[in-house]
Amino acid sequence: MNAVTFDVAKLADEYKDKTPSEILSLAIEHFEKLSISFSGAEDVVLIDMAVKIKPDIKIFSLDTGRLNPETYQFIEQVRKHYSINIDVMSPDSKQLETFVHEKGLYSFYKDGHQECCGIRKVMPLRRILSTLDAWITGQRQDQSPDTRSGLPVIQKDNTFSSGDHTLVKFNPLSFWTSMQVWQYIRNNDVPFNALHSMGFSSIGCEPCTRPILPNQHEREGRWWWEEATKKECGLHLDNDKN
Ligand code: ADX
Ligand code: SF4
Repeated sequence: MNAVTFDVAKLADEYKDKTPSEILSLAIEHFEKLSISFSGAEDVVLIDMAVKIKPDIKIFSLDTGRLNPETYQFIEQVRKHYSINIDVMSPDSKQLETFVHEKGLYSFYKDGHQECCGIRKVMPLRRILSTLDAWITGQRQDQSPDTRSGLPVIQKDNTFSSGDHTLVKFNPLSFWTSMQVWQYIRNNDVPFNALHSMGFSSIGCEPCTRPILPNQHEREGRWWWEEATKKECGLHLDNDKN
């Protein structure tokens, strides 16, 4: 089955109360051209569940060139721990060189993160998604009341589908809380990014992520100089429409 014959609305409703593993099984059963997007943070839970269903599941990670050393080490640790391949996607070198030449390495503090994220994350994402019929993300509703509160477990990806290419997006952890994620990590001895032990909660690029204080919301350490409603980097623009 491909994305065109997959009834997204019906299945999103049917699967909203199912477990993340059941949602992953549905995705794996229906789509051959399917990949998990792994950010090097706690969404390794999805990898842990998915390899039990399909040991050679495809996984990709967007290497912006600005990740923390701990995140690179963690990506490598996950590769070895699960004996899996991870497609590490890089930005287009010409586009990046032009951007850095014109604006330097820290323009996002001055005029917002959209342009840099566009080049370092969104374009490489677009490239890999053009080869897929479906992708899996670790997004959760509780990550952001401003942008993710309506997130369904399955949706048509309206940002990255095009006229002749329908792309389906699975968010199996949508209804899970951060506490459930960390309980799963502990109960299953799932490896995690060393930055989590240093006060980091949501982890992105090094210049745009900082640790949070007790009781701060988990995404307050991301792009802290911008408003909460702007804290989406372009990978999940559909969230504004949910
Ligand atoms: S972001 O839009 O703010 O950067 P966030 O860090 O919350 O996203 O992560 C949400 C989901 O987006 C992750 O669970 C993962 O599926 C995907 N994602 C985010 N960053 C990356 C990345 N660098 N590489 C691959 N997937 C990513
Ligand atoms: Fe650039 Fe920051 Fe976006 Fe990373 S998170 S791509 S460094 S603006």
